Amino acid sequence: MTAYQKLVVYYFSGTGNSENVAKWMADIAIEKGMEVSLINIAKTERRHIESPKPDALIAFISPIHGFNYPPVMLNFLFHFPKGWNKVLLLNTRAGMLIGEWITPGLTGIAFYFSAFILKLKGYSIQSMFPVDLPSNWISVHPGLNERTVKYLHERNQEKVYRFARKVLSGGSDFRGLYEIIQDTLVAPISLGYFFMGRFLFAKTYYASSDCDNCDLCIKSCPVKAIKNVDNRPFWTFNCESCMRCMSNCPKRAIETGHGSVLVVGLLSSLFISGLFYSFFRQWFFEIEGTFLGFILKSALFLGILAVWYRIMHFAMRFKFVERIIVYTSLTKYKFWGRRYKALKNTGK
Ligand SMILES: Cc1cc2nc3c(=O)[nH]c(=O)nc-3n(C[C@H](O)[C@H](O)[C@H](O)COP(=O)(O)O)c2cc1C
Repeated sequence: MTAYQKLVVYYFSGTGNSENVAKWMADIAIEKGMEVSLINIAKTERRHIESPKPDALIAFISPIHGFNYPPVMLNFLFHFPKGWNKVLLLNTRAGMLIGEWITPGLTGIAFYFSAFILKLKGYSIQSMFPVDLPSNWISVHPGLNERTVKYLHERNQEKVYRFARKVLSGGSDFRGLYEIIQDTLVAPISLGYFFMGRFLFAKTYYASSDCDNCDLCIKSCPVKAIKNVDNRPFWTFNCESCMRCMSNCPKRAIETGHGSVLVVGLLSSLFISGLFYSFFRQWFFEIEGTFLGFILKSALFLGILAVWYRIMHFAMRFKFVERIIVYTSLTKYKFWGRRYKALKNTGK
C-alpha cells in the first residue's frame, strides 16, 4: 500500500552515489505504482523551480561536503518555493569498511540546517536518513578498493530499499538524529569548511601535462567552476570539490596538488603571522585571537592562494615545474590515487 501518488526527488551528485540513492528510491516508488520525477538540481535553473504539487512526497538527496550539504544544494533549498508537502531528507556520506563493519560518515549540520530552511517554508520533515556509500574524497585519503566499493553498494541498496518501502507507505525514519552528539561536536568545523576550507580545496586541483584538452572536465562540471585559461583547465573558487572532474578524466590527468598547497600554506602563514605581529600590533591594535583577526587572516590567505594558483598555472608550462608539482601530489601514486566513480545502478 502506498500513502502517496507521486514522488519527486531532487538530487545533487558529484560521483554518482547520491544519484544511485535517488534511483533506488525511484525503484521502490515505481514498484508501488507511484509516479516518479528525478530532478538533477545541477541542471535546474534556480529561478524557475516549479512548486511541488500538493499530493507529492518530496525527497532531497545530496552528498555531505565538510559536515554540511554542499553550497549548490543549500542554494537550491534557499530558492525552493514554499509548500506544505512532506519531505524526506537523505544524504550520502563517507562510508568505509573494517572487516564486515561499515564505518559511518559524519553528517554534521546538514540535516538540521536544511530542515530549518524547509520548515520556514512550510514543509513538514518526515525522515532524515544517512547512507554510508564509499567515500569519494580522494584528495584526503587513498581511494577505496573494488571489494569495498561493491560491498558498500550492495549493503546500502538493500538499506535504501527498506527505508523506501517504509516511508512510501507513510512511515518515518529519523535515523539521522541518532548522531546528534557527534554532529554537534563537528558543527564548528562545518562553518570553517563553508567559509574557508572549500575555497582552499578548490585551488588544489590542476591538470598535468597528460591533459589533451578534451574539455570533458569543463563541460561536465556541475557548477561550471572550471575554465580554460591559456589552453589548460583552471579551477575557480566556485569549485565545490565534488570530484567529478577527477573521476571522469579519461587521461587521469587531474590531480590534487598536496605539495604545492603545503608550500603555499607554510609560506602564507609565515607571512601573515609576521604581518600581524609587526604591522598591526605596532600601528593599530592587538587583533591576534579575535574574530576580526580571523576574518582578516582568512581573507589574506585566500588572496595569496588565488595569486599563487595563477602563478602555478602559468609556471606549469615549464616541464620541470610541472614535474615537481605532479610528483608531490599523492593522487599521482598508485597506492593512493585510485579514482572513484559509483557503480552503475543495477536496479532491482
Ligand atoms: C569535498 C568533500 C567533502 C566531504 N565531506 C564529508 C563529510 O564531511 N562527511 C562525510 O561523511 N563524507 C564526506 N565526504 C564524502 C562524500 O560525502 C561521499 O563520498 C558521498 O557519497 C559522495 O556522493 P556523490 O557520489 O553523490 O557525490 C566528502 C567528500 C568530498 C568530495
